[in-house]
Amino acid sequence: MNVTVLVGSQWGDEGKGKIVDILSENVDIVARYQGGANAGHTVEIGDKQFILHLIPSGILRENVICVIGNGVVIDPSALLQEIELLEKNNIKVDGRLFISHNAHLIMPYHKLLDSISESGENKIGTTGRGIGPCYIDKYARKGIRIVDLLNRTVLEEKIRANLKEKNNLLKKVYDHDELDVEAIIKEYQEFDKRIDKYIKDVPSYLNNAISEGKSVLMEGAQGALLDVDHGTYPYVTSSSPTSGGACIGTGIPPNRITQIFGIVKAYTTRVGNGPFPTELVDEEGEKLRKTGAEYGATTGRPRRCGWFDAFLVKYSVMINGIDYVAITKLDVLSAFDEIKVCTGYELNGKSLKSFPTDVNRLYSVKPIYETLTGWKTDISKCKSYSDLPEKTKNYLAFLVKHAGIKINIVSVGPKRTQTFFVQ
Ligand code: GDP
Ligand code: IMO
Ligand code: MG
Repeated sequence: MNVTVLVGSQWGDEGKGKIVDILSENVDIVARYQGGANAGHTVEIGDKQFILHLIPSGILRENVICVIGNGVVIDPSALLQEIELLEKNNIKVDGRLFISHNAHLIMPYHKLLDSISESGENKIGTTGRGIGPCYIDKYARKGIRIVDLLNRTVLEEKIRANLKEKNNLLKKVYDHDELDVEAIIKEYQEFDKRIDKYIKDVPSYLNNAISEGKSVLMEGAQGALLDVDHGTYPYVTSSSPTSGGACIGTGIPPNRITQIFGIVKAYTTRVGNGPFPTELVDEEGEKLRKTGAEYGATTGRPRRCGWFDAFLVKYSVMINGIDYVAITKLDVLSAFDEIKVCTGYELNGKSLKSFPTDVNRLYSVKPIYETLTGWKTDISKCKSYSDLPEKTKNYLAFLVKHAGIKINIVSVGPKRTQTFFVQ
């Protein structure tokens, strides 16, 4: 049995797409378990770059079956656009993509409410994809699911009931124009015709496949510190990117998981608002952004950049139960004479024993840094651990010690070939 959960270990954009692509060479099924088109997972193959938002990154390996679990929130138009783009690039989707009956649909009012809420005070800095409002409706038991697309009457009734409430809210609270109910009903009835063939009983499919000896890779979106429970609330996403979310979001029970893989960027980035203790708001931060091409794969926003935070990753290892780690973007640090690593936080003159997720404390902490000498050598062509300069090995050993990780994969560039396993 080989059921692996792959999680982002920081604030997202750690390079999950690239590592899913690498690991899925030897995997039968890749399943997404949460989030939606807020994700942007990049895979570079030769001179082609693919950015996947909803469809698992395993779609780029022709023998892999891809599954979108119940925990994902699906924007039908984003999904259809993604399918079209893949097909234009001669990547077969039919017969290789399955979507859970129980996944919730992003509706036009979710995107609108996301943008209205972000135009007020207390901005989160969301991706504007309607994610939060869709999960609100899911938990308020008002959501519209993939299964509802199959019954025209049910779909119509649910859209009418939701629109009655949402239009009231738009008009009375936000002084906004009402949305056109009939147009939305028509739009979503059209989606049924195109999505019908992908719908499946995902928990049965996945559990039977595991029983038959198939291997499954569960692809998390976002990262542990964006988890609605374990992240830097309220500056989080509205789902559970941590490994526990993989069970809830697919129907695979915890005792079938064999290993948990964490993707860790060799430094730290974050998009959107919220505390970021090791953030560099100076020239060095700008240098990290430029060298690492740190611009959002979904929104194009510049990512906030800072030094590696071993205290944060150690917390992430704990809440996810991470067994092995892929270190990505190590090549980006080749540009620096000195590299700092945060090993702990100080608050009111005392060093903290555990990572504080309470944002008020997190805004006030002072990172404790150790400075390591940079290797100042191009490592992007290294093919094995032994090819790395001694100073790079020292840096990795330092991360292993302070973040409590076991490194299994090292990534030294965006391409498939710029990756090696550590024995
Ligand atoms: P994800 O959301 O975790 O899949 O990550 P993103 O795709 O949003 O961001 C990662 C970015 O870094 C993408 O542009 C990747 O092509 C790129 N990338 C991944 N691994 C490496 C690496 O080892 N070195 C460099 N220089 N770029 C990388
Ligand atoms: P991948 O899967 C990085 C961030 C947003 C914002 C917060 C809430 O590519 O790593 P949302 O739209 O989810 O309500 O926004 O979460 N965010 C991400 N940051 N990578 C992502 O996905 C993200 N998805 C959401 O920037 O701060
Ligand atoms: Mg991303």
